[in-house]
Amino acid sequence: MNLSLEIQELDQTTLEKMLKLVHKHTGITMNSSKKALLQGRLRPRVRDLGLHTYDDYIEYLSSHKEEVQEFVNIITTNETSFFRTQRVWDFFSNDFLPKWVSENPGKTLNIWSAASSSGEEVYTIGISCEQFRQKHPGFEYHILGTDISTEVLKVAEAGEYSGRSIENFKTNNRPLFDKFLIPTGSRFKVAPEIKSRIRFAGHNLFTVPKHKEFFDIVFLRNVMIYFEALDQEIVLGNVSRAMLPNGTLVIGESESLNNLKTSFNFKSPLIYEKSRNQ
Ligand SMILES: C[S@@+](CC[C@H](N)C(=O)[O-])C[C@H]1O[C@@H](n2cnc3c(N)ncnc32)[C@H](O)[C@@H]1O
Repeated sequence: MNLSLEIQELDQTTLEKMLKLVHKHTGITMNSSKKALLQGRLRPRVRDLGLHTYDDYIEYLSSHKEEVQEFVNIITTNETSFFRTQRVWDFFSNDFLPKWVSENPGKTLNIWSAASSSGEEVYTIGISCEQFRQKHPGFEYHILGTDISTEVLKVAEAGEYSGRSIENFKTNNRPLFDKFLIPTGSRFKVAPEIKSRIRFAGHNLFTVPKHKEFFDIVFLRNVMIYFEALDQEIVLGNVSRAMLPNGTLVIGESESLNNLKTSFNFKSPLIYEKSRNQ
């Protein structure tokens, strides 16, 4: 007798239903080529729930509202690391911060990492700001990190890391790494002076942000690649509404705003500026 019930492969009809659910709950567009990925991610959950087919899971998802967040956590791709794409961080520290401070004396810089995953991008922003602050006492900043996955937000809030996401940072800039990441057992935790200026919250980019503040700079990186063009325009519209006129938008290395209708103007690769009159 076979005690470990094998869950059947996703057939085409069920796969299509699943792809629609992915889009409905996250805005992510996947095609049938993602079948193996979806199956691999969903199979353990289907098994844990004691269900036998992916159709049973779809039924379960529609009758258990609380499962939606679980589904979102499972199907999102959360790959990230400290100082991902050095060009962005050179721009932020050497161009953006000095210019912003000289144009906004006495103000607090408001930063949003709008698909922050497990926090590495947010803490990279924090480390860059903290470095800058040491040369410019009085400089103040707040960072908001948001993501649709509550699973990664828990990691972000804990602010403790090991393995791949810190590897490059640790190897390439050891003095900075040692300054802001404190060893705790086999892991490293982000220094408290950085954590105290950071807040994390759940947010779906397809909803209009409820945050009270308007942001000077938004990092919207390596998330638009998962959306089709019309959805990218919706997301960029929502993000733009949360920004100050003239605010700066930073995108990912595989992303572009070319051919999209948006309120952003190209400044340099990966860097855009919100139009003054939007
Ligand atoms: C690949 S990570 C990018 C993380 C980081 N910005 C970076 O560049 O390293 C993409 C993140 O986008 C999040 N995401 C996907 N769809 C989203 C949505 N509709 N709203 C908010 N976040 C979303 C995922 O949960 C994931 O953590």
